[in-house]
Amino acid sequence: MAARGAFITLEGGEGAGKTTQLRRLAERLRKAGREVVETREPGGTPSAERLRAVLLEGGPWEPVTQALLHFAARREHVTGLILPSLAAGRVVLSDRFADSTLAYQCHGLGLPRAVWDRLAEVTLEGLRPDLTLILDLPVERGLARAAARGGNNRYERLPEAFHARVRAGFRAIAAAEPRRCAVVDADADPETVAARVAAVVAERLPGLLP
Ligand code: TYD
Repeated sequence: MAARGAFITLEGGEGAGKTTQLRRLAERLRKAGREVVETREPGGTPSAERLRAVLLEGGPWEPVTQALLHFAARREHVTGLILPSLAAGRVVLSDRFADSTLAYQCHGLGLPRAVWDRLAEVTLEGLRPDLTLILDLPVERGLARAAARGGNNRYERLPEAFHARVRAGFRAIAAAEPRRCAVVDADADPETVAARVAAVVAERLPGLLP
């Protein structure tokens, strides 16, 4: 059997800095000799990117529909990119994954957890991240960062109370699965957060980073 790579996901609310941190972590891993695939959700394959446009700019969709669309995009991503990359021994870094649906649609919008469980079962082929980094910072700080970079998608426009539920949701996920998840304090400059992220990866997945 081919050596399986590692699957690392970055999660967090708006403006948490996932995209920047993902790029920095990828650089570190490549310097350490790893083959790295950088990807994101919704999206990651051409077919899933088409669903991304529908999700973020189309609609409005009610919560079950949102979950169906996110998991439809995720199915394309899992089968078309993530599983083949892991089978080839690569490290896959994904900007968001299934925890985002749990935090945004379930905790944020009230979608029942049982719906998430059923969609995850038919979609994910049993795939779970080896490590999930939850970048955490106060809601108002994240929304201010997101506004400063000019983002204005459907979710960013939702009220602060929604984003507070999303943040609490991510923290609850981490508390429920402490072996898979690590909460990283993201309320600092990118350099500092990158060092925190690298320290967690080195500790949780020994052998990936020197
Ligand atoms: P994106 O522009 O990638 O935002 P960010 O930089 O904050 O990650 O847009 C993704 C948006 O989609 C984001 O607002 C979160 C939302 N989302 C969900 O609501 N559910 C999901 O399952 C996923 C993957 C994303």
